[in-house]
Amino acid sequence: MITLAFRDGDRMPALGLGTWKSEPDEVGAAVEEAIRLGYRHIDCAPIYGNEPHIGEALEQCFKKGLVSREEVWVTSKLWNNRHAAGDVIPALEATLADLRLEYLDLYLMHWPVAIRRGLVFPESGEDMVSLEDVPLAETWERMEAAVAAGLCRHIGVSNCSAAKIASLLDGVRIAPEMDQVELHPYLQQDGLLSFCRSNDVLVTAYSPLGSRDRPERLRTEGEPVLLEDPVIGAIAARLDATPAQVLIAWALARRTAVIPKSTNPGRIRENFEAAEITLDAHAIREIGELDRHRRYIEGDAWARPGSPYTVAGLWDE
Ligand code: A2P
Repeated sequence: MITLAFRDGDRMPALGLGTWKSEPDEVGAAVEEAIRLGYRHIDCAPIYGNEPHIGEALEQCFKKGLVSREEVWVTSKLWNNRHAAGDVIPALEATLADLRLEYLDLYLMHWPVAIRRGLVFPESGEDMVSLEDVPLAETWERMEAAVAAGLCRHIGVSNCSAAKIASLLDGVRIAPEMDQVELHPYLQQDGLLSFCRSNDVLVTAYSPLGSRDRPERLRTEGEPVLLEDPVIGAIAARLDATPAQVLIAWALARRTAVIPKSTNPGRIRENFEAAEITLDAHAIREIGELDRHRRYIEGDAWARPGSPYTVAGLWDE
């Protein structure tokens, strides 16, 4: 199993099961199937609306002796409406209760934006709270406190640009250990990857398959379909693999963690078997040429009129 080493030597299995968009009534079976197949990393978040179901499945897996708590890596995330200093640890405790766990392996700040307390999604730009009012550093300080309290072993961020990570590197007790971002051949983010590498920040690739099942409001008509890319298809045919396997193998070849989502047993297996595939230099070069800086998750929900955020400022682009 390919693993990535944290600064203290802890190792995270690089290939995990994504659970965004996994229906509550399907995710439990998907998690158990994944564990049976050998997955040892499950990526969660309270905003996915299915942590209680994942918690039930994990408890069953432990009870049945399929895996022990120590053998499985569980990540979850702090939602944007809990950035205030007093909300971070209670939010983490609620996630732990839902997941039926005593600690998380990794806790991430889901987005570098804050939503007014009490709201899950902003209805207008006015529902967003600026980073001047709720600074990332203050939220981060409580994430550090969560490690000290034994509620999580590692902390990191998600959807953060190099500049935002840089702002959290100085004067903190624990520098972010992970950035979980959208990464795939259409959005390769080489600059961010090399910044993270030089600063000892690991990277997880989300939406590695192009996230076809994301909500309608996040899709655009005629958008490029990663899983149908002809170059990816040709490489897959050459290697006797599937396009999804090529995409996962590419993420692993770049030494990123990768969390393809599936609730289909055959595809959960197919994705796990991608770790056996080696891409040759020619395939890596061909995929390198596919970059078109295409975000499937643009973050525009945080940047409606009246919001202190803009899409350009969000990604620092
Ligand atoms: P399903 O859950 O029915 O398998 P991403 O991880 O980029 O968000 O992509 C998730 C989407 O890709 C889901 O629609 C998922 O559907 C689909 N998917 C997952 N694995 C595969 C695969 N091996 N081949 C084709 N589609 C896949």
